Amino acid sequence: MRVVLGVSGGIAAYKACSLLRLFTESGHDVTVVPTAAALEFVGAPTWAALSGKPVSADVWTSAHEVPHVRLGRSADLVVVAPATADLLAKAAHGLADDLLTNVLLTARCPVVLAPAMHTEMWEHPATRANVRTLRERGAHVLEPAEGRLTGADTGKGRLPEPDELYAACLAIRSTGAGASGGAGGTIDTAASGGADGRPLRGRTIVVSAGGTREPLDPVRYLGNRSSGKQGVALARVAAARGARVVLVAANVAVELPEDVEVVRVESTRQLQQAVEKAAAGADAVVMAAAPADFRPAQVSATKIKKSADEGAGLRLQLTANPDIVRGLVAARGSAARPVVVSFAAETGDDSGSVMEHARAKFARKGSDLQVVNEVGRDRVFGADDNTVHLMRRDRAEVRTVGPASKEAVAAAVLDVVQELLG
Ligand SMILES: Cc1cc2nc3c(=O)[nH]c(=O)nc-3n(C[C@H](O)[C@H](O)[C@H](O)COP(=O)(O)O)c2cc1C
Repeated sequence: MRVVLGVSGGIAAYKACSLLRLFTESGHDVTVVPTAAALEFVGAPTWAALSGKPVSADVWTSAHEVPHVRLGRSADLVVVAPATADLLAKAAHGLADDLLTNVLLTARCPVVLAPAMHTEMWEHPATRANVRTLRERGAHVLEPAEGRLTGADTGKGRLPEPDELYAACLAIRSTGAGASGGAGGTIDTAASGGADGRPLRGRTIVVSAGGTREPLDPVRYLGNRSSGKQGVALARVAAARGARVVLVAANVAVELPEDVEVVRVESTRQLQQAVEKAAAGADAVVMAAAPADFRPAQVSATKIKKSADEGAGLRLQLTANPDIVRGLVAARGSAARPVVVSFAAETGDDSGSVMEHARAKFARKGSDLQVVNEVGRDRVFGADDNTVHLMRRDRAEVRTVGPASKEAVAAAVLDVVQELLG
């Protein structure tokens, strides 16, 4: 997608470098448009080198290409991070005295503004009114985070971390919300379910992530290769869409988001207990974790010793683990909630193709949506991109998403969840 990354003159301008990286490394085409004040914090050569494109703050450079109109018109997403109090005021009033403010008037794609400033500036009635105006027009003004500000002080006004901003951008873009919601555009919030583009506000979504470990003795376990990246992306995007998210994390190898409730588990039975507890009263459960189908029948209290006989092996007996998805579907009975989403990591073999195995699994599980991914040694596990096939109980056709970032896959899955929630 073609992204315009606007950067205005706040101390958090340096964080936009990481946001830029997240976009470019996922294959997006990014043009950085800083304000003159932003260039006091991070210089044009940094933006040019990181984006691979020329950088200008004014409307006069390359005037023959009419950049003040071209950039906004051709963008699929405009994000301003950080957005200063000054930038919000200009956008709310339709001023256009530099390239970024011109882009905000010509863009007809979703516009995301990520304010960052001292708490007093954020709470000032002038800023509150500007934010209200922008949201009423369909711009997505994100809430600043709380925490350390420019000096030694703390409070609300901090720019959210780049990965959160990135997830929020993808989530907003994927809903198609605000297709004419530029700072100067009209309101189009139907697809997003709210003027702030947070269609899951008021919903509770349980997401499981990672891979379980089944203990064998105090040292060893049987595990799987799931990194938890897809589940964490789901949690991030659901939180960015306004949901209260409970993330049940089984041995996740990646950093967990701060704005979700985390329950850490180790084994499949712990995962089951935690998910069932969180599912009570939830609107949806997305089971992205990879539980183990089997566990050792006996767990040794002491480390299993190697036999004195060098060639001797070890015979393990495994016992079946509970099927968590089937349990959730059974517990729901005839109720409509929670919507249950299962994941099926499949490989093809002599007995059938990936999709044949996946269809049989979908029939067994009874979930509302099954996300199928083909796995193999260098596929899916730990990768940043994913290709999935979405099978819905209420539709015959299967939709393929990807190859796409795990955030984009998460957004596609949550789009279906939103539809199912009505
Ligand atoms: C060290 C320093 C840090 C600043 N941080 C912020 C900030 O985080 N948010 C903000 O709204 N303004 C901040 N300002 C003030 C803006 O730079 C100033 O309002 C400027 O005119 C913004 O211009 P722009 O909106 O065109 O980028 C800061 C100024 C200085 C000197």
